[in-house]
Amino acid sequence: MSAPHVPVLLQEVVEALQIRPGDVVVDGTFGAGGYTRALLEVGAGRVIAFDRDPDAIEQGRSLVPNTNLTLVEERFSLMDRVLAERGIGPVDAIALDIGVSSMQLDRADRGFSFSADGPLDMRMGQSGPTAADFLNEADEAEIVRVLRDYGEEPRARAIARAIIANRPVERTGELAAIVRRAVGYRQGMKSDPATRTFQAIRIHLNAELEELEEGLEAAERSLKPGGRLAVVTFHSLEDRIVKRFFRERSGATPAGSRHRPVAVQGPAPTFEKVAKPVGPSEDEVARNPRSRSARLRSAVRTAAPVWQNTSGVTK
Ligand SMILES: C[S@@+](CC[C@H](N)C(=O)[O-])C[C@H]1O[C@@H](n2cnc3c(N)ncnc32)[C@H](O)[C@@H]1O
Repeated sequence: MSAPHVPVLLQEVVEALQIRPGDVVVDGTFGAGGYTRALLEVGAGRVIAFDRDPDAIEQGRSLVPNTNLTLVEERFSLMDRVLAERGIGPVDAIALDIGVSSMQLDRADRGFSFSADGPLDMRMGQSGPTAADFLNEADEAEIVRVLRDYGEEPRARAIARAIIANRPVERTGELAAIVRRAVGYRQGMKSDPATRTFQAIRIHLNAELEELEEGLEAAERSLKPGGRLAVVTFHSLEDRIVKRFFRERSGATPAGSRHRPVAVQGPAPTFEKVAKPVGPSEDEVARNPRSRSARLRSAVRTAAPVWQNTSGVTK
């Protein structure tokens, strides 16, 4: 049995979303339903909860029938389409809690973690190519790019070569051992280098940064004027995307490139009241070490029309 997922920055997210009785709210990352439960408790009239993982939706069925909760197995980047299909108008608040849940991490058969040996899977949505498919088919340059871009791994080339020399790689334990050997890891070293490789492959396989960018734009299309958006991220690559999105959309930085002439007026800001980023309290980190790197950013939707999409993960 995996440990239940402990919601991160829960109070802070609920506060940022300023739920009023009867509000219609999207929980874009249902997970174990921690945010959804809290949102219903503080008076949300309806929660539409998304998760791309069929297991999360299946487990969430224990909360249903709750006439105020609708569970949707789908990616949050498609939330505006799903809401429109179901005849649900612009919503009052949206929460996104990016990344993997404890249930996903702790189940060896999902292949997200190197602490317990399992098949190299790592697919949140449980369809499409697995991590093993990627590692056994990609060329060296592609593996290097993924490890550098999504794991900020300085020894990417050595690791990629070692993976290719040891193909086929099928188990999480095998991959962790290959990475440790390639970078000369010894017990007692500060951090296990396999962490970066596993993070990188997971982000690549699930297109997590693209999903985040597209999810923010979908949220912009889905919120009513005055609607609140709260986003929790777990590492700097994700946080940078959210920070940049709120900066641009609130008019704090000119949209597009710095080569754009200064005189050109950008579109009207779609977000305002961008809050300072919030991290976990010492107490929360002590209770739940996985919250350590969490960061919440939030803002309020204006009445301005949505911007042209700008997706395209930039670093
Ligand atoms: C950190 S957990 C959320 C935990 C939840 N807030 C709670 O309190 O239980 C992230 C969840 O989001 C899901 N997820 C990640 N990316 C997604 C996406 N693009 N669309 C829908 N769900 C996604 C994962 O499958 C996982 O279940």
